Amino acid sequence: MAGLSLSDLNLDYNGIYVLFLTIVAFLIPVVLVFPPVPPQTSDALLQTHSKAGVRRSKSNLRDQSSPAHLPRDGRPPTVQSLVIYPVKSCRGIELERSRVLPAGLEFDRVFMFAQLKSPFPVAVDATDAEKDVHRWEFVTQRQFPRLATVKVDLWLPDEVKQRKQSLEPTREAFLILRFPWRDLGWRGVLQVLGAKLTRGRAAQPEKEILLPVDFPSRQEIEGKGYTYEDVRIWKETMNALNMEKELPNELRLYLGVSNKLGLFRVDPAQLREVYRCAPNKTEAGCQPVTGFQDAYPLHIINLPSLQDFSSQVPKDEDLQELDVLRFRPNIILSGAKAYDEETWKQVRFKPGDSGLHNDARFHVSCRTVRCKMPNVDQVDGVRHPVEPDKSLRALRAVDEGAPLNGCLGMQLTPLFEANAAAEDHTSWIGVGMAVEVEKRGKHVYIKQ
Ligand SMILES: *[C@@H]1O[C@H](CO)[C@@H](O)[C@H](O)[C@H]1NC(C)=O
Repeated sequence: MAGLSLSDLNLDYNGIYVLFLTIVAFLIPVVLVFPPVPPQTSDALLQTHSKAGVRRSKSNLRDQSSPAHLPRDGRPPTVQSLVIYPVKSCRGIELERSRVLPAGLEFDRVFMFAQLKSPFPVAVDATDAEKDVHRWEFVTQRQFPRLATVKVDLWLPDEVKQRKQSLEPTREAFLILRFPWRDLGWRGVLQVLGAKLTRGRAAQPEKEILLPVDFPSRQEIEGKGYTYEDVRIWKETMNALNMEKELPNELRLYLGVSNKLGLFRVDPAQLREVYRCAPNKTEAGCQPVTGFQDAYPLHIINLPSLQDFSSQVPKDEDLQELDVLRFRPNIILSGAKAYDEETWKQVRFKPGDSGLHNDARFHVSCRTVRCKMPNVDQVDGVRHPVEPDKSLRALRAVDEGAPLNGCLGMQLTPLFEANAAAEDHTSWIGVGMAVEVEKRGKHVYIKQ
């Protein structure tokens, strides 16, 4: 039985072609069931958790430039949309309702990226102590606009799913960060193929990072090698938990960060106390605090103000419309007169059409003084060279406390009942709530 060759099998070219077709036809279902890419972490989470937030197709901001948001007689302003940004400077999550805590909306800005900066240059004969001087400094889209394209999903435990699968119930919530990434060579080709097979033709391969939402226990901190370090945010320094061990090096390459990149988790026991324009402890019901927000717990934008401003911003090919999300608001209002919010000092949110049964009260602390970040397109992470920064400075330098800066939107501090217990320092806010202005007055910004 020696020398069996192809010619002995009597296969002509037609035969080989048919054989080839048979193999391919057999492989197609195999590839569909077992795609040539390992399952993503989010595929596993889907079994026990549900993704929080409003689907893009159901977004309450779809018609944000419509005149329907202009004020109408006899109708109070209402909450049009709510947005949280669990990772500072990354993509936000639109919500229908949210819990309000002293430090702002629940899950807002719990993580933040930072880069390790050393003083440069260091003298050759400097002491080791001097050479070791380094400082973690927060990074935002101002330096690394690609942060805007890092998507963030919040996965909350789903009791129904867990019960169906008779799994040990877990109360743990997770964040998944996703950024576009493909490896070099054939591996990258497979990743592109896998993405398209599993998520549709337009899908691009992504890399995922899984993060626990709850603040880690002492054992977890030790076990995972997380460290407490000081990190600078604007002109303040916070002590927070560095979880950089969770970051793949690919993220640094994708963002274009040449320094060491850190990922900080805010420590709920070490929030920053807010003074300046904020109410004092007695007025607010508790000492105003904030986590990784820029300066105050919440930020609110009124759509008619944005529409008025936007109508005066020169548009070009790279800036066709000014999406409200460029301004990174938490609360987006409809139906207040343009810039009326700049005369508000205290507001009460009432149930309205929200389906909620509680009021939520806020101190309107000051105007939001803008940096250049609104120049970054929040969809593709591309920075416009001049607008809207130029128009903000030209048209919106309206606060005598910050005469050289443009302002748009207001900073809010939540108000709670005096003498309430710490666990009662909470309320709910939802889309459809109606806004009643309780106090009006003048705002003068106090610089940091
Ligand atoms: C808080 O502010 C109120 C009103 O401005 C003032 O009457 C009160 O004395 C202040 N309380 C403290 C503790 O500073």
